[in-house]
Amino acid sequence: MITREAVEEKLKEVMYPGFTKSIVDFGFVKDIDVSDDHVYVEVDISSSAPEVEQQLRDDITAKLQLLGAQKIDVVITKPKMPRESSSKGKNIAPQIKNFVMVSSGKGGVGKSTTTTNLAIALAMQGKKVGLLDADIYGPNIPRMMGLEGQQPEVIGNKVKPMLSHGVEVMSMGSLMEEGQSLIWRGAMIMKAIQQLLQDILWSDLDVLVIDMPPGTGDAQLSLAQSVPVTAGVCVTTPQKVALDDTTRSLDMFEKLHIPIAGIVENMSGFICPDSGTEYDIFGKGTTAPLAEKFHTQVLSEIPIEPAVREGGDTGKPVVFHQPETETAKRYQQAATKLWHEIERINEEGGVDNEAIQPTTPPGVSACSTGGSTGGTENSSGGGSCGCS
Ligand SMILES: Nc1ncnc2c1ncn2[C@@H]1O[C@H](COP(=O)(O)OP(=O)(O)OP(=O)(O)O)[C@@H](O)[C@H]1O
Ligand SMILES: [Mg+2]
Repeated sequence: MITREAVEEKLKEVMYPGFTKSIVDFGFVKDIDVSDDHVYVEVDISSSAPEVEQQLRDDITAKLQLLGAQKIDVVITKPKMPRESSSKGKNIAPQIKNFVMVSSGKGGVGKSTTTTNLAIALAMQGKKVGLLDADIYGPNIPRMMGLEGQQPEVIGNKVKPMLSHGVEVMSMGSLMEEGQSLIWRGAMIMKAIQQLLQDILWSDLDVLVIDMPPGTGDAQLSLAQSVPVTAGVCVTTPQKVALDDTTRSLDMFEKLHIPIAGIVENMSGFICPDSGTEYDIFGKGTTAPLAEKFHTQVLSEIPIEPAVREGGDTGKPVVFHQPETETAKRYQQAATKLWHEIERINEEGGVDNEAIQPTTPPGVSACSTGGSTGGTENSSGGGSCGCS
């Protein structure tokens, strides 16, 4: 006789496509019913992709047949297909439906940590997600995603993104030697950003989440000119001094015609691992007035939790590896809110980057250093940026 427990045990062997975790461990199995040799299984998945549903149906049926079930009913419920992007203007990576620029006014506020966890949360919610590390000065994403030391595959003159935690990943850090630094000049930044979009074999993604260098500079402008950025996310810490820089970052989104999806207030309080008590360190809730001023929302307040830092250092992001933590739950909520914003922006006609295209005549550089003669990565002085 087949028991409910035996069915559950078998379902623990069914891995969710693209992950090494079972549908039981993910909590996707909603109902199991057994009467004699008839087994009914209800699974609620986060992906809307038909191939995921088909693979799961095949895998579940095959496993339950091993138990001797004669009649197997598998009901799979899934979210509706994500809507297409309605954005216009220049797009050098048109197979990607939405682009999210994650920025911060200053360094070290947790931008890369937020980007990593948001990207994985979106993937766990069934979106096809890419993560681009556009922080050419200090690429940290390979370490945070557990891809440190791995070389991406080169196909012809293009590069395949690497896969980690259900997310396609590319970083300048994976393309240059470890620990090496490059001195970036205006036009080189433009070229690098373009290559990271155009010469990487990104799939047909629902969304590419992009970790920017801190501040408001050429990388941000280059990105916004190369693709229509659907939404901007600003990461900040709650101290008043950090908020001054955040204002600049939000102002930059407005200047670049990028709709602001919201602010992530990071390091907002501290959750003591021993007691679970929350302490106020840098302040808390200080970003709400700023969000209001820019007609946007606080996507989440993420507390300081040692698990977040450990996850970043060891390449095991907290949202995936410790989903029971408070921070993991808040990243999931932030991802849900972000996706709603993306849908809303598209429903209202999407974005257009036509107005921020360079206005200089063809052949003349629009880069910020204003130079026009040749230069190399290591050349110094002269004021020219190497653009032509
Ligand atoms: N909520 C948090 N709780 C605990 N540690 C955190 C949290 N957010 C970030 N950190 C840690 O703080 C450090 C800085 O974070 P991160 O590298 O993401 O910042 P960043 O803004 O991307 O910095 P940079 O400007 O240098 O790129 C990292 O060690 C990270 O693990
Ligand atoms: Mg960073």
